[in-house]
Amino acid sequence: MNFFKKCTLFWIAFLFFFSFFTHLAAADENRPGLSLKATFDLYVQAIHNSDLKSLFTTVTDGQDFFFLTSTGKLIDSREGYYTFHEDWFKETGWEMPVELLEVHEGKDYGYTVAKFYYKQRLPESGTYNLDSYFTLIFHKEDGMWKVVGDICTPIERYLIEKNPDLRYSADQTYLLDMIKTRRTVRRFKPTPVPQEHILKILDAARLAPTAGNQQPWKFLVIQDRARLDQLQKEAVSWYLEGYKIKRNPTEEQLSKLRTQLEEVVKNVLSAPVYVAVLVDSQAQYPDYILYDGSLAAGNLMIAARALGYGTGFFTTFFPEVKMKEFFGIPEQYRLICFTPIGVPYEWPDMPPKKSLDELVIFERF
Ligand SMILES: Cc1cc2nc3c(=O)[nH]c(=O)nc-3n(C[C@H](O)[C@H](O)[C@H](O)COP(=O)(O)O)c2cc1C
Repeated sequence: MNFFKKCTLFWIAFLFFFSFFTHLAAADENRPGLSLKATFDLYVQAIHNSDLKSLFTTVTDGQDFFFLTSTGKLIDSREGYYTFHEDWFKETGWEMPVELLEVHEGKDYGYTVAKFYYKQRLPESGTYNLDSYFTLIFHKEDGMWKVVGDICTPIERYLIEKNPDLRYSADQTYLLDMIKTRRTVRRFKPTPVPQEHILKILDAARLAPTAGNQQPWKFLVIQDRARLDQLQKEAVSWYLEGYKIKRNPTEEQLSKLRTQLEEVVKNVLSAPVYVAVLVDSQAQYPDYILYDGSLAAGNLMIAARALGYGTGFFTTFFPEVKMKEFFGIPEQYRLICFTPIGVPYEWPDMPPKKSLDELVIFERF
């Protein structure tokens, strides 16, 4: 190759690399004539690269500026916006995929609407996620599009936890545990239950769902020990009465059963507090009162568990007709259950429960 050809090739190569690198450098900076979409892309790229210098070539040089953050804070200066990004870019372990939804390029003003999916790895494990819309308002300054407004509209914040043990918050785990560890308790310690706890538990009961929001319930609270002792005697007699009619037992069988029953009913009635959950048959939707009452009883039992008390949905020893007579309950009320509230003598183990597999059908049988 002669000298002339060598020189020509050198200059071609030089010009190629020069233009390539200047193009690259220019790609990181805003410049006159860049479209609004290209300016938006530059803005997003600068965020992804945590590149403050490049980012701020897309932000106004003027004083009129506002930024509404994802937490509802107003930052109304370029300096404030700078500091926000400076602090943010010091953080590591985050990414923020962006999805551009709309671009409007007017003469002097324009805007973009995009969605971002911010993901921050947490120190322990898992990821904090914030999905938001963000709207950038651009103003043309010296032929360049510059951001003068940034509005963040959060859609959802959530945690994604890969470790199944850490997937739920402490509150979520606590509530689920209370449901899991609620037990029917049939023997209690005499430890008193403060009035405040009784009301707290009944407050949870009254918040249960009801048909048409009719709330047809009444909660009859019994704490009078003498009356409960009387009920104990009556309950044994009521049970034996029914048993005699149904089974026609011998005197010996009856006496043996009485002894057993006295022990069981004594234990069942050993709590300091009882609640008769009642529903009004004259409520607006009487067909649903038994469902309503059962849901209230369910809430009551879980709330009591959360405060450390055992309960029981007792029915057999406390027949409705007899109980209404015993407690002078007006005719119109139905008895849902008679439940103790008390500190368990001991927490029973969970009785066998059917597995989810046996019970759940997705979509169709
Ligand atoms: C409608 C209904 C009626 C019940 N009746 C009685 C009862 O008369 N006596 C009793 O000891 N337990 C009664 N129970 C409590 C169940 O025996 C108890 O919920 C079941 O054995 C499961 O135990 P767990 O509540 O500890 O999960 C009743 C529960 C329901 C829901």
